[in-house]
Amino acid sequence: MQIDLFPNIDSKIAKNALFSKYGKICYLCDMESFKELARVRRSRRKYTEEAVSQEDLKTVLRAALMAPSAKGLRKWSFVVTSDKARIKALSEVRPGGSAFLEGAPVVIAVLGTPADQDMWVEDGSIAAVSMQYQAADLGLGTCWCQIRSRESVVEGVSADSKVKEILGISEEKAVLCLISLGHPCDDRKPQDEDNLKWDQVTYAD
Ligand SMILES: Cc1cc2nc3c(=O)[nH]c(=O)nc-3n(C[C@H](O)[C@H](O)[C@H](O)COP(=O)(O)O)c2cc1C
Repeated sequence: MQIDLFPNIDSKIAKNALFSKYGKICYLCDMESFKELARVRRSRRKYTEEAVSQEDLKTVLRAALMAPSAKGLRKWSFVVTSDKARIKALSEVRPGGSAFLEGAPVVIAVLGTPADQDMWVEDGSIAAVSMQYQAADLGLGTCWCQIRSRESVVEGVSADSKVKEILGISEEKAVLCLISLGHPCDDRKPQDEDNLKWDQVTYAD
């Protein structure tokens, strides 16, 4: 049972963060601003079986479609699947890094068309990360699974071609990454403020 400790707060993450599905205290946050969202967003690789609502999925995809893109060309595209057999196949594409996809209720492939947009990696990355922050704001979990420049489990076959085969994606497209989406059930703490690499920031005033 989930207890609504914040009946007057609209943000789902503020409510969900207190009690996970299993009643375990995860973390307390007050999602009043992007500053707080940046702190609590973590990669989430384990999900409950609860489906992602169509409304939430649309909100997450909307964030991608609103993301900045080079010259405003918006050349990315996205393939969404909640098909269990396809998601299982996607989880087996890479020798290690894709296994967590198996339990995800939804996977979104982020695609570019290199011939049309030389900035397809940048554009796709920004769209992907926009979805990750939007999902976190909705109390949903995501994790990036790298596909570009990765080998598949089959020697000499790229992860890109395997994903294209599984999802029926045409040859001229390139797969940047897969973003998993679901109701998280792993225990991830927010960012540790004391562990930030401020020494990697210099000022050239
Ligand atoms: C470009 C990129 C590629 C990534 N590839 C994978 C991956 O293939 N598999 C995976 O489990 N996580 C992957 N991640 C997630 C990172 O491991 C994760 O963001 C990092 O460990 C920091 O943890 P946090 O997101 O919880 O702050 C990737 C993240 C980025 C930005």
